[in-house]
Amino acid sequence: MKRQSFILSLLCLSGVSALLEILYEMRAFLHGLHNVHVAMGRKDMKAVALEAGELGKTLDRIPAQLLDRMPQPFTEMRVAMYETFKYIARDVEGKADPALTHQRFAEALSYCSGCHDTYRFQIGKVPR
Ligand code: HEC
Repeated sequence: MKRQSFILSLLCLSGVSALLEILYEMRAFLHGLHNVHVAMGRKDMKAVALEAGELGKTLDRIPAQLLDRMPQPFTEMRVAMYETFKYIARDVEGKADPALTHQRFAEALSYCSGCHDTYRFQIGKVPR
Protein backbone atom coordinates (compact mmCIF):
# COMPACT_ATOMS: atom_id res chain seq x y z
CA MET A 1 0.00 0.00 0.00
CA LYS A 2 1.23 3.46 -0.81
CA ARG A 3 2.13 5.27 2.38
CA GLN A 4 0.58 8.64 2.51
CA SER A 5 -0.31 10.86 5.37
CA PHE A 6 -3.81 12.14 5.39
CA ILE A 7 -5.05 14.44 8.04
CA LEU A 8 -8.40 13.93 9.66
CA SER A 9 -9.34 17.28 11.04
CA LEU A 10 -12.12 16.00 13.18
CA LEU A 11 -12.24 18.92 15.57
CA CYS A 12 -13.57 21.28 12.91
CA LEU A 13 -16.20 18.78 11.92
CA SER A 14 -17.48 17.05 14.97
CA GLY A 15 -15.72 18.28 18.10
CA VAL A 16 -13.28 16.71 20.51
CA SER A 17 -15.83 14.17 21.71
CA ALA A 18 -15.85 12.53 18.26
CA LEU A 19 -12.09 12.14 18.37
CA LEU A 20 -12.21 10.75 21.90
CA GLU A 21 -14.92 8.33 20.88
CA ILE A 22 -12.77 6.93 18.09
CA LEU A 23 -9.71 6.65 20.33
CA TYR A 24 -11.86 4.88 22.94
CA GLU A 25 -12.93 2.43 20.29
CA MET A 26 -9.29 1.93 19.27
CA ARG A 27 -8.32 0.94 22.79
CA ALA A 28 -11.26 -1.47 22.83
CA PHE A 29 -9.84 -3.00 19.60
CA LEU A 30 -6.56 -3.64 21.34
CA HIS A 31 -8.31 -5.36 24.26
CA GLY A 32 -10.43 -7.34 21.85
CA LEU A 33 -7.40 -8.47 19.85
CA HIS A 34 -5.72 -9.54 23.05
CA ASN A 35 -8.79 -11.56 24.06
CA VAL A 36 -8.94 -13.28 20.66
CA HIS A 37 -5.26 -14.10 20.82
CA VAL A 38 -5.44 -15.50 24.35
CA ALA A 39 -8.36 -17.71 23.30
CA MET A 40 -6.40 -18.89 20.23
CA GLY A 41 -3.43 -19.76 22.45
CA ARG A 42 -5.73 -21.87 24.63
CA LYS A 43 -7.27 -23.47 21.54
CA ASP A 44 -10.63 -22.42 22.98
CA MET A 45 -12.39 -21.93 19.66
CA LYS A 46 -15.74 -21.08 21.26
CA ALA A 47 -14.10 -18.15 23.02
CA VAL A 48 -12.35 -17.15 19.76
CA ALA A 49 -15.74 -16.98 18.00
CA LEU A 50 -17.29 -15.04 20.86
CA GLU A 51 -14.51 -12.45 21.14
CA ALA A 52 -14.12 -11.98 17.37
CA GLY A 53 -17.90 -11.66 17.05
CA GLU A 54 -17.89 -8.89 19.66
CA LEU A 55 -15.17 -7.03 17.71
CA GLY A 56 -17.22 -7.42 14.55
CA LYS A 57 -20.13 -5.62 16.21
CA THR A 58 -18.22 -2.50 17.26
CA LEU A 59 -19.02 -0.76 13.97
CA ASP A 60 -22.60 -0.36 15.12
CA ARG A 61 -21.48 1.67 18.12
CA ILE A 62 -20.09 4.57 16.07
CA PRO A 63 -22.68 7.27 15.29
CA ALA A 64 -23.54 7.22 11.58
CA GLN A 65 -23.06 10.98 11.23
CA LEU A 66 -19.45 10.54 12.33
CA LEU A 67 -18.78 7.65 10.00
CA ASP A 68 -20.18 9.68 7.11
CA ARG A 69 -17.50 12.31 7.62
CA MET A 70 -14.55 9.97 7.27
CA PRO A 71 -12.65 9.81 3.99
CA GLN A 72 -13.73 6.93 1.79
CA PRO A 73 -10.49 4.85 2.06
CA PHE A 74 -10.55 5.21 5.86
CA THR A 75 -14.08 3.84 5.97
CA GLU A 76 -13.18 1.05 3.56
CA MET A 77 -10.33 -0.09 5.81
CA ARG A 78 -12.56 0.03 8.87
CA VAL A 79 -15.29 -1.96 7.20
CA ALA A 80 -12.82 -4.53 5.82
CA MET A 81 -11.39 -4.98 9.30
CA TYR A 82 -14.83 -5.54 10.84
CA GLU A 83 -15.67 -7.98 8.08
CA THR A 84 -12.51 -9.94 8.88
CA PHE A 85 -13.56 -10.27 12.52
CA LYS A 86 -16.98 -11.44 11.44
CA TYR A 87 -15.35 -14.03 9.16
CA ILE A 88 -13.21 -15.28 12.05
CA ALA A 89 -16.33 -15.78 14.18
CA ARG A 90 -18.19 -17.44 11.31
CA ASP A 91 -15.27 -19.75 10.32
CA VAL A 92 -14.79 -20.89 13.87
CA GLU A 93 -18.49 -21.61 14.33
CA GLY A 94 -18.49 -23.61 11.08
CA LYS A 95 -15.25 -25.59 11.32
CA ALA A 96 -12.51 -24.81 13.77
CA ASP A 97 -9.38 -24.56 11.62
CA PRO A 98 -6.65 -22.84 13.67
CA ALA A 99 -4.47 -22.22 10.58
CA LEU A 100 -7.29 -20.35 8.86
CA THR A 101 -8.03 -18.39 12.04
CA HIS A 102 -4.36 -17.37 12.28
CA GLN A 103 -4.42 -16.24 8.67
CA ARG A 104 -7.54 -14.13 9.23
CA PHE A 105 -6.10 -12.73 12.43
CA ALA A 106 -2.98 -11.59 10.54
CA GLU A 107 -5.27 -10.01 7.92
CA ALA A 108 -7.13 -8.09 10.64
CA LEU A 109 -3.80 -6.85 12.04
CA SER A 110 -2.75 -5.63 8.62
CA TYR A 111 -5.80 -3.30 8.65
CA CYS A 112 -4.81 -1.94 12.07
CA SER A 113 -1.26 -1.18 11.02
CA GLY A 114 -2.21 -0.15 7.47
CA CYS A 115 -4.59 2.50 8.73
CA HIS A 116 -2.16 3.72 11.39
CA ASP A 117 0.52 4.09 8.73
CA THR A 118 -1.82 6.21 6.65
CA TYR A 119 -3.87 8.40 9.00
CA ARG A 120 -3.25 10.79 11.85
CA PHE A 121 -5.74 12.89 13.73
CA GLN A 122 -4.89 16.53 13.85
CA ILE A 123 -6.71 19.09 15.88
CA GLY A 124 -7.18 22.30 13.98
CA LYS A 125 -8.29 23.55 10.61
CA VAL A 126 -8.69 21.40 7.55
CA PRO A 127 -5.47 21.95 5.52
CA ARG A 128 -5.85 23.34 2.01
C1 HEC B 1 -9.58 2.77 9.56
C2 HEC B 1 -8.44 3.21 10.29
C3 HEC B 1 -7.99 2.46 11.51
C4 HEC B 1 -8.07 1.12 11.77
C5 HEC B 1 -8.59 0.01 10.86
C6 HEC B 1 -7.51 0.92 13.09
N1 HEC B 1 -7.11 2.12 13.62
FE1 HEC B 1 -6.33 2.42 15.49
N2 HEC B 1 -6.19 4.42 15.13
C7 HEC B 1 -6.53 5.04 13.94
C8 HEC B 1 -6.20 6.48 14.02
C9 HEC B 1 -6.40 7.50 12.92
C10 HEC B 1 -5.66 6.67 15.31
C11 HEC B 1 -5.12 7.98 15.88
C12 HEC B 1 -3.65 8.03 15.49
C13 HEC B 1 -3.03 9.40 15.75
O1 HEC B 1 -3.66 10.42 15.49
O2 HEC B 1 -1.86 9.40 16.16
C14 HEC B 1 -5.67 5.37 15.98
C15 HEC B 1 -5.24 5.16 17.29
C16 HEC B 1 -5.17 3.91 17.92
C17 HEC B 1 -4.74 3.68 19.29
C18 HEC B 1 -4.34 4.77 20.28
C19 HEC B 1 -5.59 5.12 21.11
C20 HEC B 1 -5.37 6.30 22.05
O3 HEC B 1 -6.09 6.38 23.06
O4 HEC B 1 -4.50 7.15 21.79
C21 HEC B 1 -4.79 2.34 19.51
C22 HEC B 1 -4.44 1.58 20.79
C23 HEC B 1 -5.25 1.70 18.27
N3 HEC B 1 -5.49 2.71 17.33
C24 HEC B 1 -5.43 0.33 18.10
C25 HEC B 1 -5.95 -0.25 16.94
C26 HEC B 1 -6.07 -1.68 16.74
C27 HEC B 1 -5.62 -2.76 17.74
C28 HEC B 1 -6.63 -1.86 15.51
C29 HEC B 1 -6.97 -3.15 14.79
C30 HEC B 1 -7.76 -4.15 15.48
C31 HEC B 1 -6.84 -0.54 14.94
N4 HEC B 1 -6.43 0.41 15.84
C32 HEC B 1 -7.41 -0.32 13.70
C33 HEC B 1 -7.09 4.45 12.84
C34 HEC B 1 -7.37 3.08 12.69
